[in-house]
Amino acid sequence: MIHTEGESNTSEARAAWAARHPDAATRALLARDAGAFLHQSLSSPCLSTIARAEGIWIEDTAGRRFMDFHGNSVHHLGYGHPRVVAAIKAQLDALSFSPRRFTNAVSVELAEALGALAPGDLGKVLFTTGGSDANEVALRLARAATGRFKTLSFWDAFHGAGFGASSVGGEATFRSGIAGPLLPGAEHVAPFNCYRCAYGHAGPESCGLACAKMVDFVLAREGDVAAVIAEPMRAVPVVPPPGYWRAVQAACHRHGALLIMDEIPTGLGKTGAMFAFEHDGIVPDIVTLGKALGGGILPIAAVVARRDLDVAGDYAIGHYTHEKNPVTARAALETLAVIREEGLAARAAELGRHALDRLREALDGSPIVGDIRGRGLMFGVEIVEDRGMKAPGRAAAERIYYRCLEAGLSFKISAGCVLTLSPPLVIDRADLDRALGIVVDAVRAEAV
Ligand SMILES: Cc1ncc(COP(=O)(O)O)c(C=O)c1O
Repeated sequence: MIHTEGESNTSEARAAWAARHPDAATRALLARDAGAFLHQSLSSPCLSTIARAEGIWIEDTAGRRFMDFHGNSVHHLGYGHPRVVAAIKAQLDALSFSPRRFTNAVSVELAEALGALAPGDLGKVLFTTGGSDANEVALRLARAATGRFKTLSFWDAFHGAGFGASSVGGEATFRSGIAGPLLPGAEHVAPFNCYRCAYGHAGPESCGLACAKMVDFVLAREGDVAAVIAEPMRAVPVVPPPGYWRAVQAACHRHGALLIMDEIPTGLGKTGAMFAFEHDGIVPDIVTLGKALGGGILPIAAVVARRDLDVAGDYAIGHYTHEKNPVTARAALETLAVIREEGLAARAAELGRHALDRLREALDGSPIVGDIRGRGLMFGVEIVEDRGMKAPGRAAAERIYYRCLEAGLSFKISAGCVLTLSPPLVIDRADLDRALGIVVDAVRAEAV
């Protein structure tokens, strides 16, 4: 199985960065972290430390500041948004917890707000603490509603770390031999962006959306799939070809499968629309939200399902201790209010267009840039060894990444070679331009 994820824990570039940690306190904290936590990929042992975070900035314990273009996709509003902080503080005084058999006004208000925000008949809600759990609730609901248990999802997708979520996920890290057997019936298909689209040979007009036809083919052959679960836009980041989701939804209808859209990183405005599936003119049967829903401060995720899928009243499909936590619900309500009142989805669309234009202007034609792509404030630069064959430029991507860190910009590498840039929706245009300048300089320095 291919490991396709981000920057390596053991590369020379990482070792060189680690060797430059300037102070003993930082080195000591990193050593304590490595001693205290179970080690796993892309986590402990950690790359760096964090002492403070505000707006788009994080500051490490050595006093170095970075614009954060990763933020685990929670930071639509930046770090510590004053309105969300104030709302949480007030809620702590008013009502700090709600055991599950009691309801509370804040949680109901949030469920109603999400039902009103989501298009179509998406109106019934359940909260969980994290996104992985929200996806597992969605899968249970799909099983209950269809009487089927199989799923269809993408290779290379990520839907969370739980056993159910990693069964429908397609990343090697979560599906490795040490995980043991995953859920039965979790079928996978190649994601959109096959070589024809990725290499710019032709678009969906000439291939007739072969990628969507493969979904139809598998649904037909299996004959009893409960749900297709996918991210509407791949985190790599890859935008679906026009018509892809409409074709997949039609296939779901033909074969009796539900369509679950995992909007955990893409939702709430990141791609320039409140839900990324809106770009494709579809409304799924179930949508999951998380990450930014807690305002970048508290953990809360949500399942929003079609009203008529409320079919499991006699069973437990979620049942999480913090299902109706009024403090996390308050954080989410205030987050939704800020996103709406400040028009942040439209802002993401506008700034995203600007960023793509600037990157293309500066880097198109670079021998190590394979593609510049994205939607809204989720965009990326693919680094390749060879523009013709598009062999991934993994080592070059890492060197660029550490060069950007040195210059004060943090982000992550996806699929081994894509500089994945996902700034907060509240970023100033001047800061965005500064960050884009850092990326451009780092890529150019690598290309000479
Ligand atoms: C698409 C997607 N789904 C689900 C998850 C899991 O969310 P959580 O880490 O809150 O369980 C993630 C997290 O990165 C994600 O990107």
